[in-house]
Amino acid sequence: MGTPAETMPSWRTIESVVALACRAPSLHNSQPWRWVLEHEGLTLFSDPDRILPATDSFGRQMVVSCGAALNHLKYALLEHHWDAAIERMPHSASRQCLATVAFTPAAEVSGSEIALATAIARRHTERLPMAAPNSWDDALAQVTELAERAGMHVEDIGDRARPTLEAMSRRLSGLRRGNPVYQAELQWWAGHALYPDGIPSAALPASSPGTVPVGREFPTGTATCDPGDMEDRAAILVLTTDSDSRLDWLRCGEALSALLLACTARGLGTCPVTHMTELGETRTRVGELLDGDGLPQVLIRVGLRPQSASPSTTPRRPLSEVLFRDRSES
Ligand SMILES: Cc1cc2nc3c(=O)[nH]c(=O)nc-3n(C[C@H](O)[C@H](O)[C@H](O)COP(=O)(O)O)c2cc1C
Repeated sequence: MGTPAETMPSWRTIESVVALACRAPSLHNSQPWRWVLEHEGLTLFSDPDRILPATDSFGRQMVVSCGAALNHLKYALLEHHWDAAIERMPHSASRQCLATVAFTPAAEVSGSEIALATAIARRHTERLPMAAPNSWDDALAQVTELAERAGMHVEDIGDRARPTLEAMSRRLSGLRRGNPVYQAELQWWAGHALYPDGIPSAALPASSPGTVPVGREFPTGTATCDPGDMEDRAAILVLTTDSDSRLDWLRCGEALSALLLACTARGLGTCPVTHMTELGETRTRVGELLDGDGLPQVLIRVGLRPQSASPSTTPRRPLSEVLFRDRSES
């Protein structure tokens, strides 16, 4: 049996990797996660106080967001030469318990794993129009492999489905302008600068609506690019699952994270897009656009960020609100 130093990273390392895990994307930057350090390792819980009921009535995107944080944690740990032994949906008295993470010293860390770990700090959601991604065949092969490894499927539907998706997105945005409950939730979470959660104005396009037709309609923000960069030619990926359980949602978030980090490491901009998959009717129509018969979970735009745009970093909640130590057994 190893000494504590060999079986557990130091508290300082735990703080540092959890802080990086919390850089993960989440629906409207709701950051719906809690981490608890116990004797055997870390436990990840979803935080039901941070569900967005008008947007995410089943809590699917809450669990996807937690899956993204779990995958960020895995790469952050590898950078410190720790492997994460993850048990998903363990037996627990709490329905919010999504995963436990035990630590083992990593025998070997590959260059591509380090590339994904170092991409965490650079990744952010790009909502401005993007040019077509370069070296796309290589990038698509890598993200397909990462998704398959997580038990997910990924399809590039950009060119053939763009007009249909744009029309669907515009229609949905128009309908939702008339939904006061959805609008109140959106206004609560997006377009402010004061809070450590939600989406700040600087991360939202100045000329919304319509800047990126397949994107979600947000309150008008302050992000701009040159008029010459206004056409969106980003590839559009769809992450799909075979079924729709909470385990699928968690794994989907893990695959989403790996895919976003791989694209970031290649210098590509990314934007998860979920307004069309959060309602039954449009989700079914997105499914009909696919070659495969998987269930669409998340669309992702991938492209070259406009050079004229300045990158914006969204804030995160302080660690003291999301990381706790369970001292009951010590
Ligand atoms: C499940 C999920 C759904 C999301 N849906 C959208 C979306 O529909 N439109 C969008 O612009 N961003 C979407 N995002 C991105 C979040 O708004 C973004 O991750 C969050 O504001 C934090 O900002 P950052 O990614 O720049 O760190 C989504 C992210 C996740 C994980």
